[in-house]
Amino acid sequence: MSEPVLVALRGVSFAYEDGPAVLSDLDFEVREGRALALLGRNGSGKTTLMRLLSGGLRPRSGELTVEGRPVRYDRKGLTRLRTTVQLVVQDPDDQLFAASVAQDVSFGPLNLGLPDDQVRIRVDEALAALGISALADRPTHLLSYGQRKRTAIAGAVAMRPRVLILDEPTAGLDPDGQERLLATLDGLRRSGTTVVMATHDVDLALRWADDAALLTPSGARTGPVAAMLARTDLLEQAGLRLPWGIAVTRLLRERGLLTDDAPGPRTPEELATLTGAAPPVPAEG
Ligand SMILES: Nc1ncnc2c1ncn2[C@@H]1O[C@H](COP(=O)(O)OP(=O)(O)O)[C@@H](O)[C@H]1O
Ligand SMILES: [Mg+2]
Repeated sequence: MSEPVLVALRGVSFAYEDGPAVLSDLDFEVREGRALALLGRNGSGKTTLMRLLSGGLRPRSGELTVEGRPVRYDRKGLTRLRTTVQLVVQDPDDQLFAASVAQDVSFGPLNLGLPDDQVRIRVDEALAALGISALADRPTHLLSYGQRKRTAIAGAVAMRPRVLILDEPTAGLDPDGQERLLATLDGLRRSGTTVVMATHDVDLALRWADDAALLTPSGARTGPVAAMLARTDLLEQAGLRLPWGIAVTRLLRERGLLTDDAPGPRTPEELATLTGAAPPVPAEG
């Protein structure tokens, strides 16, 4: 993990008004180009952490940095932050408010003071990236849940952020909708956007992410996803279970069906390919 740190929280503590500390002295880094899954049980502070990263909440102590420089919470500082980091909240209905899809997606770029032709280019580009160009003039209140979710993501993408943060993006989607969303996120990653996703789905994290950050009561622990999600001690602290792929990988290694240096399967499809193509187990001695 030697990629440069784009955004970071340094020694951050946060509590809601009159509430107990949600995060204490937290260190958290987003590295350029690394798909990062933020994992933790319900109530562990994933949403709070993401709102701190995108400037919606301000740390009680500690700091938010962009490329090493502390963010200032004035107009200029927050505008700079918004062109670097965009958060897509979990419920699209908390994000959408304009009459039509294109109007909603144009809101951020218009707010940056961009000329109309630039706004149009960005909106077209964002709608295309999310595969919803045909919905441009559709009233937002007539959209399906999945379409509303895509519109909300397009609104963030239209800001051309370097880091796109999604809070439980697959929650509420059917399996096909989930697959299509992952394909969309892969497209955004290929075009250079760093994507961070909060989820409590360990199987999804294993197949999608490069790195995993486990939010435990003693802080966030980040590392390569397959190694992190094999740490039963950390999983237990984070209130998560062992991913299916890790359990199968262990079994395959125990049975001599997978060498120690070969990566294990992350999906049933990878398991089928792997076992179908696996060389015969070498004889003893
Ligand atoms: N707006 C709020 N006001 C007060 N407490 C909140 C608010 N939002 C979240 N909390 C509390 O902060 C803690 C962390 O919540 P949250 O960040 O939403 O966790 P997660 O996203 O991991 O489920 C929880 O105890 C939750 O009850
Ligand atoms: Mg949450």
